[in-house]
Amino acid sequence: MIAVSKEERARELYEVIRACRMCALAETRTHAVPGEGPLDAEVMFIGEAPGLNEDRQGRPFVGAAGQFLSELIAEAGLRREDVYICNVLKCRPPGNRDPLPGEIEACAEYLDLQIDLVDPLVIVTLGRFSMARWFPQQTISRIHGRPKEVDGRIIVPMYHPAAALHQGALRQVLIDDFRGLRAILERARAGLTAAAAPAADTAAAGTPPERPSATPPAQQPAAPAPTSPAAAAAPGGGSGAAPAGPQQIPLFE
Ligand code: URA
Repeated sequence: MIAVSKEERARELYEVIRACRMCALAETRTHAVPGEGPLDAEVMFIGEAPGLNEDRQGRPFVGAAGQFLSELIAEAGLRREDVYICNVLKCRPPGNRDPLPGEIEACAEYLDLQIDLVDPLVIVTLGRFSMARWFPQQTISRIHGRPKEVDGRIIVPMYHPAAALHQGALRQVLIDDFRGLRAILERARAGLTAAAAPAADTAAAGTPPERPSATPPAQQPAAPAPTSPAAAAAPGGGSGAAPAGPQQIPLFE
């Protein structure tokens, strides 16, 4: 059997997305916006849908919200060119209206394939539509900035950067949450997800446990270094048996 590289799979997927006619947004778009970034990125950011500038350029987050997202990514200690960025919808809803359920459904498989392909250590959802993919019953004001483990992957729901452009008070909230991403990533890289309790509220609303940031990163127990990010992401943290002693404290909700 001939092995197909990630790059080839991505190229094919992007071609299919650019030619997609699965919903009515195909009639009004200028360009579909598949997403961009390295296929081995540790972090994937998932926004809502392309806006005017993204529709014109065929690239995600290139307008004012994108400028702020780039600043936030830097606050997290990351470089934009090292992360993968995409959206729930690949085509712009006219007038930037909210995505419709049928449009989200029509596009869902593309996002599934992107997540499979990139296989990121951490997924950051931007705004309520991407959050709803994992936490449909939750409200963003309750769970923003708090990492949760779902099916072995860490999901961090964040406000959408555009929200801060309309509501100034959210700017600092976003900056603080993205700064918190540094510690979340460090713990994820260290493979401590093996000790995480699964998210209890994936489909049902519930009272979330205390914020993990209540324990400052400096007080976290030292973890054995993983051999690779992939090993860190693997169930068991890539180090074989679950860590003993204080490392059994759940680090992600
Ligand atoms: N808002 C989004 O959700 N995605 C973009 O690509 C741009 C703005």
